[in-house]
Amino acid sequence: MADNRPIGLFDSGVGGLSVLCEIKKVLPRESFIYLADQKNVPYGTKSKKVLNNLTLRITKFLLKFDIKMLVVACNTASCYSVDFLRNNFNLPIVGVVPAVKPAVKLSKKGKITIMSTSATAKSTYLKNLIAKFSSAKNVLSLGCDGLEDSVENLNYKKINSLLDEYVKRANSFESDVIILGCTHFPFLKNDIQKRAIKGTKIIDSGKAIASRVKFLLKQNNMIAAKKTKDLFFTTLNRKKFSNVASTLLKYKVLAQKASI
Ligand code: DGL
Repeated sequence: MADNRPIGLFDSGVGGLSVLCEIKKVLPRESFIYLADQKNVPYGTKSKKVLNNLTLRITKFLLKFDIKMLVVACNTASCYSVDFLRNNFNLPIVGVVPAVKPAVKLSKKGKITIMSTSATAKSTYLKNLIAKFSSAKNVLSLGCDGLEDSVENLNYKKINSLLDEYVKRANSFESDVIILGCTHFPFLKNDIQKRAIKGTKIIDSGKAIASRVKFLLKQNNMIAAKKTKDLFFTTLNRKKFSNVASTLLKYKVLAQKASI
């Protein structure tokens, strides 16, 4: 039996749309409810306690749409709150965390840079991942303050100046793989590639998350047969979100205002 209920996704802002894109490529018949918590962006400077509270309220909001699965399309919220959400809600929950294991496999020099929010860079979750697959001395964990905000505002001047600084640090570290450990950053992949040492590989978790979502839907007999319209919500300004999301997704998005 098909399960046509939607999949819920959320992020602090437009970043999770990079994850949505990858999921839609492999699951074209699924429907999605996307929430951008722009009233509380950035998540990258928040504590575990605050993130638990916000993600709890967002999940309750998305559950009103009878979602069959939740994708935490935010590395920061996943690193701090995914276990908390799994303990509180009884539906399949997929989190997004920096792709450390594939990066280690890909690196010839064994030197990797992780570009993430400061909160993700400082998290025990990421430190444990690094210790499991590499070592602290071979990984530059770069908290890229301000970068997600410049994507939120499509402020290209700021994007360029911040990337000049951050990618320079990755180049000085001589890493040959850069992990995009914040879901806002895949939208900057070409800009990062241009600045990185020639031959640097740049990876994110989007494709792996899409495969995981597909696998779990199959395993739980939840694949949809018929698509309905995707819905987009923001906790702040729906016009602004609609404009930026339409630019990033390259199709028209009309968001609604949500209170969580
Ligand atoms: N896009 C989010 C992430 O993956 C968070 C950005 C932010 O709000 O700081 O970490």
